[in-house]
Amino acid sequence: MSAERTHAALPASSGAPSEIRPKAAARLDRLRRDVIGLDVRYPVAEGPARRRVYLDSAASTLRLGLVQKVLDRYQPHYANTHSTLHYAARLSTTEFAWAHRLVLEFVSADPARWMCFFTGSGTTAGMNRVARTLRRARPGRDLVVTSSMEHHSNDLPHRKHFAEVVHVPSGLAGQSLGGIDMARLKSAFETHGPRINYVAVTGVSNVTGFVNPVHDIAALAHRHGALIVVDAAQMVVHAPIRMSGHADAGRDIDVLAFSGHKAYAPGAPGVVVARKELFAGIEPEEVGGGMVDAVWLDRYTVSDHFPEREEAGTPNIPGAIGLAAALYALQQVGMETIAAEERRLMAYALRALATVPGIVVYGPASVEDCALVGAVAFNLEGCDHAFTAAVLNDYFNVAVRNECFCAHPYVREMVMMSLEGVAEKLSNQELERLAEQHRGMVRASFGVYSTPEDVDALVAALREIAARRDELLPLYERLENGDYRHRSFAFDTAATFSTRAAVQELLAG
Ligand SMILES: Cc1ncc(COP(=O)(O)O)c(C=O)c1O
Repeated sequence: MSAERTHAALPASSGAPSEIRPKAAARLDRLRRDVIGLDVRYPVAEGPARRRVYLDSAASTLRLGLVQKVLDRYQPHYANTHSTLHYAARLSTTEFAWAHRLVLEFVSADPARWMCFFTGSGTTAGMNRVARTLRRARPGRDLVVTSSMEHHSNDLPHRKHFAEVVHVPSGLAGQSLGGIDMARLKSAFETHGPRINYVAVTGVSNVTGFVNPVHDIAALAHRHGALIVVDAAQMVVHAPIRMSGHADAGRDIDVLAFSGHKAYAPGAPGVVVARKELFAGIEPEEVGGGMVDAVWLDRYTVSDHFPEREEAGTPNIPGAIGLAAALYALQQVGMETIAAEERRLMAYALRALATVPGIVVYGPASVEDCALVGAVAFNLEGCDHAFTAAVLNDYFNVAVRNECFCAHPYVREMVMMSLEGVAEKLSNQELERLAEQHRGMVRASFGVYSTPEDVDALVAALREIAARRDELLPLYERLENGDYRHRSFAFDTAATFSTRAAVQELLAG
């Protein structure tokens, strides 16, 4: 595998423009040439240290160098946005406000009727806030419809705050599962209509990369007086988003949440974009400094202004500015261009993975039938997902994620389906036990910097693992938590980086 990374000659696939406009191509190239951590090298169990192949962007993307440079320029001017008069405070306040405007623009949300606010830890914080707020804002509607393909962050907050949550199953896609089953969704609306507060659905699956038809779902929800809440954690930097401005306003999106650590920015500022009217009528969930106009000992008055009302406490200002810088850079390239490039990479990955002997790829098998971006999940026959992921890391320095990706029901069902051949010989209980034992997959996921060469490195490694399985397996010990640990090779994290050592060295220098 060459250390030189290229982005040339991706094969064309349906729906992708064959050529990128030269200006967009130049900007994209500039972004890709400066990504922090792309060229990091780690030791491996056999042979010299290798450059890491990073295929875990669905967990967290790498940081764009451009974002870091913007933050380095900003840092000397950092000040609290709650101070208002001195120069740095004014500058920080202006830039923090711009970050909000940019987010609205990025997801095409009309600033006259939509607002956005930053929250604590990622999409999860946003979803919890949305669930608590909408339960109070629409008290007559005590039920949420979601799907069985959701990340737990777009499921458990609704379970916690609503009387009932209905999970609509995913539809079939060939031998596996795809997106939310629209026919079953329609019947859920017919059954529960006036009780439904909102439908909460992921824009893109973090397991299969399936793109859900969020605007069709919005139209359906709105016909029944319900709202739509979109989990855009895996969508926001992989597909263009248009929350408002549809000719049929029923197709607009009411609420959307995502986070910075999946969008090439540092840390995990969560973001919620929502129709103002939904948050305007009731007191915000979080109270404290920054969101009040006046406080007496016996009362206080909450600000009428967004986003201030929803941002109690000192916000993560550098996180918001870093995220806005990343989104602005992507906007300058054009999200249509980025999405088309990623679709082509996904098509390439699906074709290449299909050539690995004994591989089971979950979800739709091809981008020809449906839209897929960002992630592909698979298993190698006869190999635990944790073993495959460990060998990919230890021998090939290919970084992937394994297990259930916080989407247990979706993963469990697909694993059960893939055991069909074995199923006839087993009782239901035995089948359940087998599925539970092997519950999990390996996931390769992509970012704007991912290349066909990264896919080739993954595929070559998987071929070798399939061929050398019986030789490699005894070299590993299976731990109680299901992970696999190499018996003689260990990576010393502290020798590579330790905060303490770095501080000591810097103090000594
Ligand atoms: C689809 C989806 N939703 C929500 C989340 C949770 O995001 P966060 O970690 O930013 O809270 C993730 C994270 O992997 C995700 O993939």
